Amino acid sequence: MAERVDVLLTEEEVDKRIQEIGDQISKDYAGKQVHLVCVLKGGSFFMCELAKRITVPVSLDFMSVSSYGGDTKSSGVVRIVKDLDEPLQGKHVLVVEDIVDSGRTLSYLLDMLRDRGPEDVKLCTLLDKPDRRVVDVKVDYTGFAIPDKFVVGYGLDYDQKYRNLPYIGVVNFD
Ligand code: IMP
Ligand code: MG
Repeated sequence: MAERVDVLLTEEEVDKRIQEIGDQISKDYAGKQVHLVCVLKGGSFFMCELAKRITVPVSLDFMSVSSYGGDTKSSGVVRIVKDLDEPLQGKHVLVVEDIVDSGRTLSYLLDMLRDRGPEDVKLCTLLDKPDRRVVDVKVDYTGFAIPDKFVVGYGLDYDQKYRNLPYIGVVNFD
């Protein structure tokens, strides 16, 4: 049966919040260059919108890890599918994610990035599902804390669909 997507956060709400986070990051990194690390594919829409709103110098890099199949549950297995192009030595790294769910992916990823000698590593996520946390992860910037629902849009997919929705929606399977 086909699933239905109901709006959880409108495009306007998401845009407004990204502007606020961009302002905060610009203040916090004043006088520095911030190196945004995008976790593909989900983080890409958020990262582009966020980067446009940051007023300090920005550099970008991308990586891809896999912890999900076509299912809606975390497997706990994290695999690097595409690594970063640039070294992180001496950089102010800000990891940009679509969503923190169990925290397994991020916990693994942040430890790995910290081992590469950056000046510091912080985490920015558009969405957070705090009720689902299994592994403790410190989130420095959060767009929205949301309930334990499977969401799509703004980069987030269900079976590779819906990433292009300009809003955040909840998938209903009934
Ligand atoms: P974690 O390791 O459980 O925190 O999983 C994080 C990753 O799972 C995210 O980067 C997403 O790719 C995916 N994910 C978790 N929850 C959702 C959701 O509600 N919709 C779509 N993808 C999700
Ligand atoms: Mg992700």
